[in-house]
Amino acid sequence: MVKAVVLGAAGGIGQPLALLLKANPLVTELGLFDIVNTPGVAADLSHISTPAKVEGYLPPDDGLKKALTGADIVVIPAGVPRKPGMTRDDLFKINAGIVRDLATGIATTAPKAFVLVISNPVNSTVPIVAEVFKKHGVFDAKRLFGVTTLDVVRASTFVAEVLGDLSAAPSVTVPVVGGHSGVTIIPLLSQSSKPLPSGFASDKLEALTKRVQFGGDEVVKAKDGAGSATLSMAYAGAEFASKVLRALKGEKGIVAPSYVHLSAEKASGDALKKEIGKELEYFSAPIELGPEGVVSIRPLGTLTDYEKGLLSAAIPELETNIEKGVSFIGNSK
Ligand code: NAD
Ligand code: LMR
Repeated sequence: MVKAVVLGAAGGIGQPLALLLKANPLVTELGLFDIVNTPGVAADLSHISTPAKVEGYLPPDDGLKKALTGADIVVIPAGVPRKPGMTRDDLFKINAGIVRDLATGIATTAPKAFVLVISNPVNSTVPIVAEVFKKHGVFDAKRLFGVTTLDVVRASTFVAEVLGDLSAAPSVTVPVVGGHSGVTIIPLLSQSSKPLPSGFASDKLEALTKRVQFGGDEVVKAKDGAGSATLSMAYAGAEFASKVLRALKGEKGIVAPSYVHLSAEKASGDALKKEIGKELEYFSAPIELGPEGVVSIRPLGTLTDYEKGLLSAAIPELETNIEKGVSFIGNSK
């Protein structure tokens, strides 16, 4: 029996994500919480002929608590999305408080659940969840994940496009490490499972790297004020959730990049800090998943000089983003 909960379930990401979780045969119960519209979304999904029993909850009558009771996995896409001209950090003002309050609900009602954070800015909202959990004495770094899967999905697609064979996209894997915003997104294209064409020019490599780093902007621009990526994010979020659930059910050897607290597994986390050359608390790297969450954090491996430069550029911004999330909770004591 697995209960999955979506917080922000009536939104642009929340609805298709809830659909994909309802279609996942591993999910037997699906709790949907939002400040609006969840009864309708739940009624609609409940007619789909898959095992999950669906319930929708709103804030009155302890709706958040009811949604979270018995949760094994909680996915959080609640909060405002970007409009053209905004950075993800511009969302902090509104989304930090939303994520803090939802994290408080999880800490008090489902402290053992796996928590998958989608709400931006991920580099800061994940530390917010961790600090709330620490305050409640229930923080387990193995169970907290910032969802960076969309960067990985984009890298696979864009590499397949460069190779001129979109049918290869599902089998292309590129580790994308660092964080989830602009220069903190570091695609390690030299480690693509399908190599780039030999002699791939450096200006092309730079353009491809930038496309992965700023893929979110492409969608924000095309949606022209109507929000950011929702459908591709729902796909990516459901992919990552599915991996977490398969690992929970005992499947071995599942590896996926995610933004985690580097204490999640001490030896491999410390080794990664050495590789990065900085005492960062959080970083996105390929994670091996198990029934209790993070089993180990994989090393970055050999980086090209270009990739080393990307890493150096990412570190100061990551540090600032992490500190912003941590101090938000520190200051709200
Ligand atoms: P949206 O506005 O369509 O949906 C957000 C939903 O959150 C709405 O239904 C809203 O009612 C709900 N909400 C607001 N406050 C809430 C609260 N306190 N409790 C519960 N629900 C609440 O936005 P969206 O396009 O779905 O994006 C959601 C978030 O996901 C944004 O912050 C966006 O930047 C982020 N995002 C992250 C990634 C990623 O790769 N991690 C990708 C795309 C979008
Ligand atoms: C993305 O990468 O698409 C998301 O983080 C949404 C955004 O603001 O770009």
